[in-house]
Amino acid sequence: MITLSVIKADIGGYVGHSSMHPDLIAEAEAHMEKARKEGLLVDSHVTRCGDDLQLIMTHEQGEGNEKIHKLAWDTFLACTDIAKKLKLHGAGQDLLSDAFSGNVKGMGPGSAEMEFEERGSEPVLVFMADKTSSGAWNMPLYKMFADPFNTIGLVIAENMHSGFSYEVHDIKEHRKVVFNCPEEIYDMLVLIGAPARYAVKAVRHRPSGVIAAVSSTDKLYAIAGKYVGKDDPVLIVRSQGEFPAVGEVLEPFAFPEAVEGWMRGSHHGPLMPCSIPQSNPSRFDGPPRVVCAGFQLSGGKLVGPRDMFDDPSFDEARRLANLAAEYLRRHGPFEPHRLPLDEMEYTTMPKVMKKLEGRFTALD
Ligand code: F6R
Ligand code: MG
Ligand code: MG
Repeated sequence: MITLSVIKADIGGYVGHSSMHPDLIAEAEAHMEKARKEGLLVDSHVTRCGDDLQLIMTHEQGEGNEKIHKLAWDTFLACTDIAKKLKLHGAGQDLLSDAFSGNVKGMGPGSAEMEFEERGSEPVLVFMADKTSSGAWNMPLYKMFADPFNTIGLVIAENMHSGFSYEVHDIKEHRKVVFNCPEEIYDMLVLIGAPARYAVKAVRHRPSGVIAAVSSTDKLYAIAGKYVGKDDPVLIVRSQGEFPAVGEVLEPFAFPEAVEGWMRGSHHGPLMPCSIPQSNPSRFDGPPRVVCAGFQLSGGKLVGPRDMFDDPSFDEARRLANLAAEYLRRHGPFEPHRLPLDEMEYTTMPKVMKKLEGRFTALD
């Protein structure tokens, strides 16, 4: 069994929240290389999406392993030291605790991990998003594993025809529910169509129960009790064979869905698929980005990555995203560009209401 762990954190932006300084990548690579030499990791790849540092690791320690999580935590700490020296913006912003306590969950970084038996050919796709939250994966995951207009394999491939099950997390109530699809898609859509509240955590093949996809569902503001940055989620998807083909996995991103998280975590914007070098959200701190690193696993080795959205066939999605961005931007401080009052991560509402106290009078 091999475990693929993706652990990520924003530990300082360059410039502002737009991108990442190369020294942080170099530092993280040094830590990963040391862990490979010591035998803790089978392989690793360090990359970024916007201002988020992404540690992609394979190992034989299983999910939620303390050594792996400590390695990620210590790597983020070391990178934070560099970020502080360079006075990068928001140095260490996702490290919410002073002391590591066994697992990065609840401590600020985001994580997605899956343990599985490597197949004869094991293509895996690691999606990483910036300026948005975990619910952003709901629509693409629905399309990949439940929508025959996206994934023709659900209709014509024998090994996918039984469908997939979805584990859906209720972010506010901290509970979960599993839906069997296709027969329960209408019930499931009632929930996952509200991505600020319900997020798909995992998808499994039916009837085998084999893991197909896992997302990070950490909500930083819920953890910290205050705004510290959107969780900028990650998603791992296995592909081919009994899972959707690479092209079926990527296809949902040809439509730049509207997601929350743009500017100050308080605006809706289109999720723009782009290459990793182009993930530098700059216009109005956005628009939100998604990148995808593709690998073939070989005995746990990460053969790759291929930068999957570095393809002109996604140019139209980017163009549509720019048009949608323009359309939404013209709303300025108005909804639906701005998030509803209770969803915003920055607000002056209590202060303003206090100031207006006594000035409200009853309607006639
Ligand atoms: C960061 C983000 C940005 C910031 C904004 C203000 O992920 O979405 O839009 O919220 O740049 O940042 P601070 O408060 O750090 O000055
Ligand atoms: Mg940031
Ligand atoms: Mg970020």
